[in-house]
Amino acid sequence: MSSKKKFELLDKKIQEALKGGGEKRIEAQHKRGKLTARERLDILLDKGSFQELGMFVTHRSHDFNLDKEKYPGDGVVTGYGTINGRLVYVFSQDFTVFGGSLAEAHAEKIVKIMDLAMKNGAPVIGLNDSGGARIQEGVVSLGGYADIFYRNTLASGVVPQLSAILGPCAGGAVYSPAITDFNFMVANTSYMFVTGPNVVKTVTHEEVSSEELGGAFTHASKSGVAHFVGNNEVETLNQIKQALSYMPQNCEELPPETEYTPTDEIRKELNDIVPENPNQPYDIKDVICNVVDKESFFEVHKDFAENIVIGFARLAGKSIGIIANQPAYLAGVLDINSSKKAARFVRFCDAFNIPLLVFEDVPGFLPGTDQEWNAIITNGAKLLYAFSEATVPRITVITRKAYGGAYDVMNSKHIGADLNFAWPTAEIAVMGAKGAAEIIFRKEIKAAKNPEEKLKEKEAEYIAMFAHPYKAAERGYIDEVIKPEQTRERLIRGFKMLENKVDKLPKKKHGNIPL
Ligand code: HXC
Repeated sequence: MSSKKKFELLDKKIQEALKGGGEKRIEAQHKRGKLTARERLDILLDKGSFQELGMFVTHRSHDFNLDKEKYPGDGVVTGYGTINGRLVYVFSQDFTVFGGSLAEAHAEKIVKIMDLAMKNGAPVIGLNDSGGARIQEGVVSLGGYADIFYRNTLASGVVPQLSAILGPCAGGAVYSPAITDFNFMVANTSYMFVTGPNVVKTVTHEEVSSEELGGAFTHASKSGVAHFVGNNEVETLNQIKQALSYMPQNCEELPPETEYTPTDEIRKELNDIVPENPNQPYDIKDVICNVVDKESFFEVHKDFAENIVIGFARLAGKSIGIIANQPAYLAGVLDINSSKKAARFVRFCDAFNIPLLVFEDVPGFLPGTDQEWNAIITNGAKLLYAFSEATVPRITVITRKAYGGAYDVMNSKHIGADLNFAWPTAEIAVMGAKGAAEIIFRKEIKAAKNPEEKLKEKEAEYIAMFAHPYKAAERGYIDEVIKPEQTRERLIRGFKMLENKVDKLPKKKHGNIPL
């Protein structure tokens, strides 16, 4: 064959591969309200940066007439490219080929880019749209999944791993996204579950739709499996790009910085956020947004466990991770879900050299049988453990309440925070004044002529003693009591001072976080 003919053959093969499962199936994909694997990559990656690998890979199984249907690529487009000029490895499942199902060759392609990502220290992004294990290939498909799960685990904490769910993700397939750092879903067109509605009906007799069982809203608000939800695929893909902008390429690097010109860092607006009445709520996001660089706050897990707010932001151009109690929701109490939500975020930031900033206004842990029976003890300990183990720069600002065990947990000096600030409105005590007075002055109150008045008097005594930051400041647990308006300036200065922090954990194989 002449070179010309050989080149033509190559062009033909490429054209064939680009078609996926064919025009009709692409049309069907669009009708489902979904983009194709390649259209998604075009949106996600910098123009012209995608380099495909394994375009001609096909499956090898002969069972169930699989020989008759062979598609170059085997239902997944894999390779590397750049996002805002930074290297990323990607796989994008092609639902038009066998429903994007995962089989031996399909899995090998994903494994190949994961191995490259680990060796070259760059994030892995998975665009999932798949009917799960390719049923015709049997155990080989299961093996392929396990090869991926294993690498997800080894890569955890080495390179950021982000999963977009852009269609079905069912059965064991959910466990790759589950191990990765962040899951991005699309409203109405994506769903994740271990067992679908039919199995649910057979086993538990519950009638539930796919959307209700495992749609984006469900996972964003009820299970917490989804960290971000886009209204459409383009929004979801843009969320991935934004998230990456706060992260380093790998655990050996620092996060990217944006330009910052020092100006007047005093923020008078902060002085008026905490209400006079200590029991009145306020929105901690007003505090966050007034402290960090303009429009830099990128909230994670927005609709899940809203009593704690977490997210990325920039302070003087540098990435930080924020964990903040939310007094506007359940009074900012710590419970099982908020502890888990914050703990995993702390660990992500710590793994990837992103300093931690905590805003604290917490009345304590949520009481009740539901919490106790579902192990608030173990789950609350996750957050305690995560903070204690974090070696990145860590600063806390107590805006109002810091009560009980929650004072210890929320990045206190005692568990390794580097700098602890308190606003003059801070109250740092074992418990709220009323409850405290009822316990320690019980006899005195009971014996009083007017017990109610006595309780009030004792409550006032307790407030005078503890409902301020100065006892803690006397001990050095608080490094400085600052006016709210000074917060941004102190934090910029503090994180600058801590930028070369080196802290090492004791030598061990690994700890045993209360899972
Ligand atoms: C092979 C599959 C497939 C699969 C879909 N297809 N899933 N082929 N293996 N797992 C094929 C269909 O046969 C069809 O081929 C094409 O993909 C599109 O599928 P449709 O059903 O037409 O699409 P839709 O109506 O949108 O439904 C999508 C779906 C459904 C909900 C995902 O296809 C479905 O329920 N698939 C099976 C899901 C499943 O049970 N997977 C195994 C899970 S267990 P044609 O040629 O007709 O277009 C699992 C274990 C992993 O994954 C364990 C790891 C540890």
